[in-house]
Amino acid sequence: MALAEVVVVGSCMTDLVSLTPRLPKAGETIHGHKFFTGFGGKGANQCVQAARLGAKTSMICKVGKDSFGNDYIENFKKNGIPTEFVNQVEDAATGAASIVVNSEGANLLLNSNDLKKAAHVISKAKVVVCQLEVTPAISLEAMKMAHASGVKTLFNPAPALADLNPEFYTHSDIFCCNESEAEILTGITVGNAEDAGRVGCILLERGCKTAIVTLGPEGCVMVSKNAPTPKHVPAQKVTPVDTTGAGDSFVGALAFYLAYYPHLPLEEMLKRSNCIASISVQTTGTQTSYPYRKNLPQNLF
Ligand SMILES: Nc1ncnc2c1ncn2[C@@H]1O[C@H](COP(=O)(O)OP(=O)(O)OP(=O)(O)O)[C@@H](O)[C@H]1O
Ligand SMILES: *[C@@H]1O[C@H](CO)[C@@H](O)[C@H](O)[C@H]1NC(C)=O
Repeated sequence: MALAEVVVVGSCMTDLVSLTPRLPKAGETIHGHKFFTGFGGKGANQCVQAARLGAKTSMICKVGKDSFGNDYIENFKKNGIPTEFVNQVEDAATGAASIVVNSEGANLLLNSNDLKKAAHVISKAKVVVCQLEVTPAISLEAMKMAHASGVKTLFNPAPALADLNPEFYTHSDIFCCNESEAEILTGITVGNAEDAGRVGCILLERGCKTAIVTLGPEGCVMVSKNAPTPKHVPAQKVTPVDTTGAGDSFVGALAFYLAYYPHLPLEEMLKRSNCIASISVQTTGTQTSYPYRKNLPQNLF
């Protein structure tokens, strides 16, 4: 089997979704009118979006030896994602997230040994994508392994940490965050493209080669070492239905373009990633809203 071009090292979460009339206070029980589960976790979301655009991918992650873990492996297979490095462990449950429970589960057990077993795949990738829903040291190690082999890194510092290890910047070819993450990282409130540009410049000074700040309906702002004037890349106007997972759709799409269209100007990759993420906000759910290549305008490819 051909090796992966987009390798994601990250999280899988079973989203436990309770639709309730309002959010419960700490410790309060309120009755939901509907309950369902969904496939989530930032790493897996990003991998699924890249795969649906046609990328050959590999996911390096941990799930529990439980029904959620089994279901997640099925979900990867349905999306054409190889599961050789989806490790199932006895000693933790599959990560799960809901408004009442938030447990990282097996994601925090992903370790150096797991990365070593996947070293040949990481070193041959076109792009390695990492986030912070696994142990941060493991994300950083994966990025260092990628860099040591000349593989491009795309880092999404989510969920954000105020005291992020500075090495994350120096090992990011592309550092891509949203407005609230940008604020946690820099202390600067981002309300518009101009603020995003200022924050992007600070992130560049910290050592990444390119910084991207996503701005929801406003698209994103990019700034690079070799193009240090921030550039706003607007998204098209759409009527959003459910924006959950839009950021991961954007990151997954960007990973696809970096791997398969490396000579496209970054601005064009971002226009196309905006377009794909803006389609995802027009349908409910997270992965359920991610478009497939066959249903997209062919001028995106
Ligand atoms: N209302 C919208 N209209 C058009 N595009 C959107 C809208 N919301 C999000 N997008 C697209 O999705 C991208 C990511 O959105 P955003 O900046 O909200 O990320 P996020 O906050 O990480 O998402 P999430 O809702 O998953 O937390 C944007 O850059 C844009 O391309
Ligand atoms: C940014 O992403 C985080 C997840 O890391 C999310 O909780 C937050 O709501 C997002 N912020 C914005 C402004 O969309």
